[in-house]
Amino acid sequence: MIAKQNAKIAGTGHYVPDKIVNNFDLEKKVDTSDEWIRTRTGMFERHYVNEDQAASDLAYEASVKALDAANLKARDLDMIIIASISNDHMFPSTACILQKMLGIKNIPAFDISAGCTGWIYAANIAKQYIENDVYKNILVVGVEILSRLINWNDRGTCVLFGDGAGATVISQSENKDISRFIDSEITADGTHYDLLVQPAGGSRLPASHETVDNNQHTVYMEGNKIFKNAVRSMYNTCDIVLKRNNMDVKSIDWLITHQANLRIIDALGKKLKIDFDKVIVNIEKYANTSAATIPIALDEAIRNNKVRHGDIVLTASFGAGLTSGSLLFRL
Ligand code: ACO
Repeated sequence: MIAKQNAKIAGTGHYVPDKIVNNFDLEKKVDTSDEWIRTRTGMFERHYVNEDQAASDLAYEASVKALDAANLKARDLDMIIIASISNDHMFPSTACILQKMLGIKNIPAFDISAGCTGWIYAANIAKQYIENDVYKNILVVGVEILSRLINWNDRGTCVLFGDGAGATVISQSENKDISRFIDSEITADGTHYDLLVQPAGGSRLPASHETVDNNQHTVYMEGNKIFKNAVRSMYNTCDIVLKRNNMDVKSIDWLITHQANLRIIDALGKKLKIDFDKVIVNIEKYANTSAATIPIALDEAIRNNKVRHGDIVLTASFGAGLTSGSLLFRL
C-alpha cells in the first residue's frame, strides 16, 4: 500500500519524578547489592513517584514539553494514544484523563497495552492514521509508574523498575521535509504471555484479600527466559525493517532500544554489528520504565544535542505479551 502522506516526529518531551532511589538505598530494603544490580543489569538509579502522583500526571508533564517542542497547542491534536501497563485505572483510559488535563475534547483518546513495546506499537498506530491522511497531529505517550507494581518479596524483579513518561507528537511531514517515519514492524508471541504478567486485578483473577496477601497485583516475571527471547526478537524486527528498505546497520546514526538490561542492549548491538558509540543508553539513571524507556531516551538525546534533525534512528523493544517491534525514522 502506498502512503498518501509521511509521518514524522515533530516534538518530544519527558518527565521523571523528583525522588531518586539508588542501588545503595535498595540494599537497605532487600537482600541485594549495588555490585549485583550494576553487573547484572547496568542500573544504578531509578525515579519513584510521590504518593499523590498517577500515570496521567507524569504523562501530562511530558506532553506539555512535547507540544512545546512541536510548536503546537493541545487544541491542534487529532488523537491521543497512551502506552502503559500501569494506568491510572483499569478504566477509563489514561488517555481520556490526559485529554481532560490538556483542556481538550471531541478527539479519540485511548490506551494500548503492549508492555515495554507500547510506545513502538502506539507510534505504529499513529503512523497509519497520518500516512492515510486521516489525522495531522497525534500525541503518543509512553508512561509507567512501575514502583506501584513492585513485589518487594521478589529481589529478582523489585530492583529493576522505575517511573517516568516520554511523550512524542507525531505529525504529517511537509513535502520538502526530510524528517519522516521510514518503516516499522510490530509483532507478538502470545504463547509466552505467562512469563511476564500482573496475575490479579483483571477478570481472570479479580481483587480479593487472598490476591493482595499473595502479592498477585505486582509484576511476576521469569527474567532469564525473557532475556534470550528479547535479543532474538529485537534483532528480527530490526533486520526486517532494514532489509525491507535496502538499508544496513551502517546507514543508522543511532540505535535506541528498550532499557531493560545493559547486557541485552550489548548483545543486540553485537548481533547487529553496530558501533557502540551509536547506541543510546540511559539505564543507569532510570532503570526499566517499560513503555517510557524509548521516548525518554529519545527526548533526552535530542535535548542533549546528540540526536539531531536529519539523523536516522532505529528503535527496538520487547516486553509483556510477549511483544516486540522496531521503528525506523529520520528525525
Ligand atoms: N540481588 C542479588 N541477587 C539476585 C538478585 C538481586 N536483586 N536477583 C536475583 N539474584 C540472584 C538469584 O537468586 C540467583 O541466585 P542463585 O544463582 O544463587 O540461584 C542469581 O542471582 C541469578 O539469577 P537469575 O534470575 O538467573 O539472574 P539473571 O542473570 O537472569 O538476571 C534479570 C536477572 C536481570 C531479571 C535478567 O534475567 C533480565 O534482565 N531479564 C530480562 C528482563 C526483561 O527485560 N523483561 C522484559 C521487559 S519488562 C516489561 O515488559 C514490564
